[in-house]
Amino acid sequence: MSSRLVRRDVVDSTNEVAKNLVAEGTPPWTVVVANKQVEGRGRFGRRWVSPRGGLYVSVAVREDLDRLPIISLSAGLAVVDVLRELSLESTLKWPNDVLIRGAKVAGILVEGLVGPDAYWGILGIGINSNVPLERLPPEFAGRTTTLRHELSEEVDNELLLETLLSLLQRGYPAPGEEDRIVARYRGVCSTLGRWVKVETSQGILEGRAVDISPTGFLLLEAKEVTVEVSEGIILMEA
Ligand code: BTN
Repeated sequence: MSSRLVRRDVVDSTNEVAKNLVAEGTPPWTVVVANKQVEGRGRFGRRWVSPRGGLYVSVAVREDLDRLPIISLSAGLAVVDVLRELSLESTLKWPNDVLIRGAKVAGILVEGLVGPDAYWGILGIGINSNVPLERLPPEFAGRTTTLRHELSEEVDNELLLETLLSLLQRGYPAPGEEDRIVARYRGVCSTLGRWVKVETSQGILEGRAVDISPTGFLLLEAKEVTVEVSEGIILMEA
């Protein structure tokens, strides 16, 4: 379990709180959980709308920065496993958008930082658990969902947190165990085998998503060459 659990009611972003705790010398596996975020962040500078009812959690781990992409895939797998415990089947859009029948229910933002003693990763996980669908921005209509909507009843956020942390820790890959993560990830990834457009910080790449590398990168076959995509947002899966 976590070595320190920090609970807050309202925060800017649990990732931000976790980063500050790392700077102050908190132990590894410190967990920050909040009921609401007013500046919840998504990948690529997007916002993560975080009203009451959702689960907003960040886990601070001492970790090499080059392992963070594979760690982020393992966090996605932990969320898929949590949902399975609730009898909900989900898939992962690379790298770690958690989808139920194509609609996003959870997202993961992994950030690296240099702590006082070592490199650290902040694993930020947001699950739309008991968020009413109408509290999500209208522009997301049809593309997002919540557990409450899928199950037609409220979920116990405490139990969700406990299960998530336990599965996250159990599935966390030690160095050398990357292949185990990739093998499991292939089985639940909706992106593989499809023609995709990926927005990266270098521009838009297009091609067939053929595999995942042991580092957690997406392998894209484009014009007879295979390129490794380290980060990006899938704009389209055909
Ligand atoms: C994404 O899908 O773009 C990632 C969303 C990550 C949201 C979580 S909620 C807890 C943590 N704190 C944040 O500000 N973001 C992450």
